[in-house]
Amino acid sequence: MKKNLFAIGIGILLIGASIISSCSKEGPMGPAGPTGTNGTNGTNGANGVNGINGVNGTNGLDGKDANSSCLACHTVANFDTKIAEYHLSKHYFGTSSSRFTKFCARCHTHEGFKQITTSGTFVATNDMPAATRINCKTCHEHKGFDFTGDTVSQILSTNSPIYLNYNKNLTSTDFGTINNLCVTCHQIRGATSLTYFDATTSKNVAFDQLPYFPFTNTDDNATVKYQVGRSFSVHDGNQSNLFAGINGYEYAGKVYTRTWKHSDAACTDCHMNKFDPISNTGGHSLIVNKGECTTCHSGADKITPIQTLIDAKRIELGELLTSKKIFKKSVNATTGAVSYSAEPTHDFFGVLFPTTQSTDTYATALVSANTVDPKTGLVLYTNTVTIAVDADYAKRIGREWKYGELGAAYNYGYINSELSKGVHNPTYALQILQNSIDWVTANSGK
Ligand code: HEC
Ligand code: HEC
Ligand code: HEC
Ligand code: HEC
Ligand code: HEC
Ligand code: HEC
Repeated sequence: MKKNLFAIGIGILLIGASIISSCSKEGPMGPAGPTGTNGTNGTNGANGVNGINGVNGTNGLDGKDANSSCLACHTVANFDTKIAEYHLSKHYFGTSSSRFTKFCARCHTHEGFKQITTSGTFVATNDMPAATRINCKTCHEHKGFDFTGDTVSQILSTNSPIYLNYNKNLTSTDFGTINNLCVTCHQIRGATSLTYFDATTSKNVAFDQLPYFPFTNTDDNATVKYQVGRSFSVHDGNQSNLFAGINGYEYAGKVYTRTWKHSDAACTDCHMNKFDPISNTGGHSLIVNKGECTTCHSGADKITPIQTLIDAKRIELGELLTSKKIFKKSVNATTGAVSYSAEPTHDFFGVLFPTTQSTDTYATALVSANTVDPKTGLVLYTNTVTIAVDADYAKRIGREWKYGELGAAYNYGYINSELSKGVHNPTYALQILQNSIDWVTANSGK
């Protein structure tokens, strides 16, 4: 209390001094140092700074606006702008953000994200049927109000390094402060089911859906079963790994380039660049305002040529893997869209699939993973094994894969599910695709 009175006293003295000094033409240099105590005043930090200066009494009076540090952001106009921009973002209008089941909620809902970031868990503790879409407060939370230095990190809900789902939460990777916020969600997905229902014992039995992760490469020629129900799928959020040039399947003896021209950029340098009201891109829309890119690129479009090149390589790999019976190819009857999916070598229980027609039955699929309980509305995690004759025999490889083949199949998904078509790291994207093509061509006999 004493301190505050003292500070106010000094403040009055200062105002006095400034009036006096404004009368004479050029006032003497004000006393430096001690007036710094104004800083403790809190509500009026700006005065404190001016006080030290002492020279500029008029500025001292302006400094009385105690809200100035808050108003840098908290004007109605600024918030209205941010809200309008955000309404253009897929986070806001996308189709999937309301997915609330316990394996999805951490990235697709506000509440799930808050839960896993505050508790440090891998998935939400349970389904969250009442969970809501990603909103301002998913990404924002005040860490403090001392807005000197790194302002941005003080208004973000998290910027801690990430325990990647891919690594089963074992090691943390630092993508950089703002990026860590985005990468908490924009990363490889991780497990989406942990048990299956065993009909003989009528019990739920644990199984490892992701036995291939992490992809630590010891021997490209080591063999591996690709079994029904197991997954090496990366989901749609792989941007972080490609951007950092990590976690692709890397072949022995090959050299990989991890950094590129924009490696030091934050996701937001491109995805929150200057808002353009005509194309409705940039700012909180999170859509890249591509008009801002060409200034440095001497007017050239650096994006389209990269995307054309990488997508052609992706298709080349997809076709190659199909010819080796590692993938099978499907063409959508109405849209004509082509897609490739990995063809399991073994059934759910690890029995090798035949390559010719057979009347024997196999554990060909895992179904009903996401049945909703009509009473509780919660999802019942009851995978059931389908026992049937194998219809895909003509497309089966009839042997275990080599690890290098699994790696190539994974690399296909790594790029396909990444969605930028290589823009996030053109060099690494091309290397992992080309090295996969080269290895499979040389080592995959069939
Ligand atoms: C760098 C920008 C920035 C600055 C500076 C800033 N804020 Fe914020 N503040 C935000 C953002 C972003 C949010 C989250 C938006 C939301 O909740 O809709 C927020 C939220 C808040 C909230 C929570 C509002 C609610 O509805 O829960 C309060 C209270 C708040 N700020 C107070 C302050 C005060 C007081 C200051 C000044 C000492 C300040 N802020 C300075 C950006 C800022
Ligand atoms: C809480 C998890 C989460 C966080 C945090 C997050 N995202 Fe997303 N992001 C998603 C999800 C989920 C989608 C897909 C939305 C949908 O389809 O419903 C998405 C979609 C996107 C898209 C596609 C937009 C479009 O219009 O095509 C971009 C770009 C994007 N995010 C960038 C970012 C950036 C940059 C950050 C960090 C500033 C970030 N995201 C933070 C979960 C997140
Ligand atoms: C580790 C975070 C993460 C988890 C967990 C996750 N997703 Fe996603 N998902 C994303 C991100 C990020 C995107 C956005 C990619 C984009 O649109 O650019 C996305 C996109 C999608 C899309 C396509 C969105 C669209 O609008 O086209 C679907 C569908 C989807 N997710 C379903 C699921 C389901 C179902 C689960 C749970 C079984 C799940 N996701 C779990 C991060 C995650
Ligand atoms: C996907 C995450 C994300 C969401 C959702 C989000 N923001 Fe932000 N916001 C950021 C990031 C990251 C920054 C820092 C950008 C920078 O300066 O590099 C930021 C900066 C800000 C700032 C300070 C910078 C400025 O220009 O004033 C304000 C204010 C703000 N956001 C308000 C909002 C409001 C309001 C909403 C909801 C309508 C919202 N944000 C939703 C990630 C997000
Ligand atoms: C050098 C600029 C740049 C940086 C940095 C960058 N991106 Fe992108 N991103 C792009 C461009 C360009 C595209 C392709 C957009 C297009 O094709 O329209 C893209 C595409 C995406 C997409 C797919 C959007 C869609 O259509 O569904 C997502 C999601 C995304 N980026 C997230 C991120 C995240 C997360 C980071 C940080 C780890 C990041 N980006 C860093 C430029 C960048
Ligand atoms: C501050 C200047 C600057 C800005 C702004 C900038 N870039 Fe770049 N970018 C460069 C330079 C320099 C190179 C490397 C030299 C070259 O290829 O012209 C480069 C290269 C690239 C490349 C690799 C091109 C290739 O052929 O290998 C991509 C992709 C790229 N930029 C994307 C973007 C995107 C997307 C944006 C806008 C969000 C952007 N850049 C904005 C300076 C910039």
